[in-house]
Amino acid sequence: MNFNLTQEQQEIRKLVREFALKEVAPTAAQRDEEEVFDRSIFDKMAEIGLCGIPWPEEYGGAGLDFLSYVIAVEELSRIDASIGVTLSVQTSLAGWPIYKFGSEEQKQKYLRPLAEGTKIGAFGLTEPGSGSDAGGMRTTAVLSEDGSHYILNGSKIFITNGGEAEIYVVFASTDRSQRTRGVTAFIVEKDFPGFHVGKKEKKMGIKSSPTTEIIFENCQVPVENRLGDEGFGFKIAMMTLDGGRNGIAAQAVGIAQGALDHALSYAKEREQFGKPIAANQAIQFKLADMATKIEAARLLTYQAAWLEDQGLPYGKASAMSKVFAGDTAMEVTTEAVQIFGGYGYSREYPVERFMRDAKITQIYEGTQEIQRMVIANHLLK
Ligand code: CAA
Repeated sequence: MNFNLTQEQQEIRKLVREFALKEVAPTAAQRDEEEVFDRSIFDKMAEIGLCGIPWPEEYGGAGLDFLSYVIAVEELSRIDASIGVTLSVQTSLAGWPIYKFGSEEQKQKYLRPLAEGTKIGAFGLTEPGSGSDAGGMRTTAVLSEDGSHYILNGSKIFITNGGEAEIYVVFASTDRSQRTRGVTAFIVEKDFPGFHVGKKEKKMGIKSSPTTEIIFENCQVPVENRLGDEGFGFKIAMMTLDGGRNGIAAQAVGIAQGALDHALSYAKEREQFGKPIAANQAIQFKLADMATKIEAARLLTYQAAWLEDQGLPYGKASAMSKVFAGDTAMEVTTEAVQIFGGYGYSREYPVERFMRDAKITQIYEGTQEIQRMVIANHLLK
């Protein structure tokens, strides 16, 4: 067994770490405060080739592996989880289903700009009445009489990259009586007639990552934009989330590592009772537990990516990495705030942002409860 990263994977880590420190860190607190998405940071990520890490060069990607991609999400999230999730959704939720199920034309038209980062991608599954029960969606897609396009009606909520994205992979029911077997996937462009961006959410964390509603009002989607067969959409959504969840695990590992980085330096600098607080075993034990949990979460996350790179099943591993890393991020960031004491609760230091950002990793791309259901289904089948 070899736990060493390859030369390429080490280089990706170094590249993204330097990028995050130089381009992301200086404005992270301000963007969080103002709840603004800065497209110029995304453009710079595109320039250095981060938007299509696992996609082949023929589609504008870097031709690297999924492990390199999760390392990139981790390193970005170590500084700013909002930027981390932008890349995760771009790659796992928008790019992956097109790469896996798209026709050659769809890959050239949509995967290429996603991989090159000239366009932003998003994923529309959740609706006001269907979150965990994704199969209960009400958005419909009806084929026009002349068979040239589908007419979509309904709305999706909590869409990461909403409004900023130009390309949306969305799911709608072409036959509601068939429930999950009646769901079909589509690639929808922001400029299609009848596509609207609705309200922007005001959130607890990842505030500089835009989250919006998207609305379809007799939205016309050309028939060639159907992704996969009619009725195959739910499986596309589930398979997409199998990988997406590991991207969120990587985000969670990054958030936890970022909080530990801050806690370590603070514990060494902050003096109370005439010595650094790191001299107290109470603080040392916290730091030791934080580091141990992060390492375990990282190993699960890298293993799930490695399984995907080997062409082996990774759905269970991904659900495990997401549930463990998400819980770790919440625990570690809470302890980081505790180590900082009153300063940790203040916006003067970044750990409160890390704690707010950590919470979403226990909720999106399937709550922790859904991950446990997925893991149990794998165990029992
Ligand atoms: N791979 C392939 N097929 C799968 C699958 C997988 N991982 N999981 C399920 N399926 C198939 C099943 O085999 C079944 O196929 P058949 O019809 O042929 O039998 C079909 O899909 C339906 O499966 P279930 O009966 O298990 O479906 P269900 O209605 O019970 O739901 C669930 C299962 C796991 C709870 C699912 O609804 C789920 O994952 N819910 C959570 C949704 C979620 O994660 N949402 C996140 C939204 S994205 C997001 O957060 C946005 C963002 O921007 C970050």
